[in-house]
Amino acid sequence: MISNRLKRIASYVSKEDKIIDIGCDHALLDIYLIKNKILDKVLVSDVHEGALNAGIANIKKEKLSKKIETRLGNGMEVLSDKDDINTVLISGMGTTTILDILKNEYLKNINKLIIQSNNDHTELRTEVVKLGYKIVNEEYLVDMGKNYIIIVFEKGNEKYSKNELRYGPILIHDKAYLNFELNQCIKIKNFIPTNKWILKYRLNKEINLLKKLIKRCGE
Ligand SMILES: C[S@@+](CC[C@H](N)C(=O)[O-])C[C@H]1O[C@@H](n2cnc3c(N)ncnc32)[C@H](O)[C@@H]1O
Repeated sequence: MISNRLKRIASYVSKEDKIIDIGCDHALLDIYLIKNKILDKVLVSDVHEGALNAGIANIKKEKLSKKIETRLGNGMEVLSDKDDINTVLISGMGTTTILDILKNEYLKNINKLIIQSNNDHTELRTEVVKLGYKIVNEEYLVDMGKNYIIIVFEKGNEKYSKNELRYGPILIHDKAYLNFELNQCIKIKNFIPTNKWILKYRLNKEINLLKKLIKRCGE
């Protein structure tokens, strides 16, 4: 049984994707991709031996060692020009780590990125767009009480407004997501002491913007 989060990430994988799942850990997503015939083979990696070994054990248990190749190493450093990979999948890490991973020579071969970062989605969008990718899909989901955002990028150039980079060009039209952001802002605002007026001012601005965006969704 895999989580709804991993299932939703898997839903963005297409037959033609030649994938590396970086930071595979348990490799449950990759086992799901093969067992559900979404892919015939997949390459997975992890920088920590213990995590990769957990993945290898699960892969062996499912008798999928011939279809799921495993590599130990840091990010895209496990790839060389001999590999035929066009899609990078990274989930369950923070944006700083994800951006460090993407700053690699091999990125020139990558057409598609499927990313579920745990934080800083504005920074993620801004920096990945600078690397020459456009946003083709975004999804906000709640799984086991936790909030997640999945972003799919493809090679290409697109200009985005400040608000689109902040909330996502697709998620900016998603009422459930905007309401989640609004509630977060209200919660933070209630914790801020009254003398922190600059912070309060910024939050009020954000709250007003979110209310306007939410209203627009309903029209
Ligand atoms: C929280 S787990 C996420 C596992 C899985 N991707 C998921 O979404 O459920 C993060 C994994 O990323 C691995 N990791 C962190 N930094 C990495 C890097 N630079 N290169 C490869 N793996 C990394 C960690 O060892 C860990 O196993």
